[in-house]
Amino acid sequence: MAKYVLGIESSCDDTAVAVVTAQGEVLSSVIASQAEIHSQYGGVFPELAGRAHVQSILPAIDKALLDAGITHEDLEAIGVTRGPGLIGSLLVGLTSASGLGLGWGVPVIGVNHLRGHLRSADLEEQRVKYPAIILLVSGGHTFLAHMESATEIKLLGSTRDDSVGEAYDKVSRMLGLGYPGGPVVDRAAKQGQATIPFPRPMLHKGLEFSFSGLKSAVSRYLNALDEAPIVNDVAASFVEAAMEILLTKCRKALKKYPVKSLVVVGGVAASPQLREQAGDLCAKMGVELCLPPLRWSTDNAAMIALATWDYLRLGHHPAPVPQLQLSISDF
Ligand code: KG4
Ligand code: ZN
Repeated sequence: MAKYVLGIESSCDDTAVAVVTAQGEVLSSVIASQAEIHSQYGGVFPELAGRAHVQSILPAIDKALLDAGITHEDLEAIGVTRGPGLIGSLLVGLTSASGLGLGWGVPVIGVNHLRGHLRSADLEEQRVKYPAIILLVSGGHTFLAHMESATEIKLLGSTRDDSVGEAYDKVSRMLGLGYPGGPVVDRAAKQGQATIPFPRPMLHKGLEFSFSGLKSAVSRYLNALDEAPIVNDVAASFVEAAMEILLTKCRKALKKYPVKSLVVVGGVAASPQLREQAGDLCAKMGVELCLPPLRWSTDNAAMIALATWDYLRLGHHPAPVPQLQLSISDF
């Protein structure tokens, strides 16, 4: 009988549950968004996130099984995000998965959230041509990795401070555009002119990133103004700087490592500007661009389930306990 993995993701502000086959077919994907709760604070309010997960997680698991037309008896394993993330949010997923796994007699595997993102482009169909350079751009992380195959991952360079998603969210808050910042800042940027020369920190320093200086430069620029800012121009100038940093590093990585494709994953991979400019870069460099569909770019549980299948194949069974720091050895 066919077996399935139930993926559970609760590292930040979305409660997500999915059922996925060993081939990456997604039978169901449920996402209970908390955007409405956090939008009034301009960012994720951790205590409220944990409470909302408690309310949504069991109904979301029931719905995912029902939508997939299976029962817990069809499960090969439960894969649950063990980090990095907010501790109160992670614990809701981890304790729910552990309890259900014990009761159902199904093994429970703790999954690195970033590994989930790294595999998201292969959901539903195998899009990634290996070896690949992969740019992960999310709310919590920004890094470049080399993937020889779906399970051989080498970190090339990550951010020394903020992620690009964090910079998007903070710039959005400074401009009064709301949360989450990515989509609104992108939309404003499209209407504006990139007239302000914001800095491009660490542009020529290897494959590492830094975004806190760019974020502070936007803040200093706004504080020094005597009049209301031209919001769209500030957004356009910020996005132009962020894109130049991301694409310069991708170009460097593609020059250094001969690969078949560039893969861009994580919430900021939903940015139309990034998708378009990554396409131009790949055309110039003669590599294929692989992008997950938008629904798999932002947080979801299908990617956690797919990463769980990788762990099962490797015989690697991390315990469902919290992991708060990025640790490449746990990928
Ligand atoms: O991967 P993700 O859903 O969650 C984390 O693991 O952090 O990424 C969330 C981030 C947020 O910073 C959000 O502003 C950003 O992704 N984001 C975008 C877009 N949609 C979401 N950034 C730029 N353009 C977008 N269209
Ligand atoms: Zn994420």
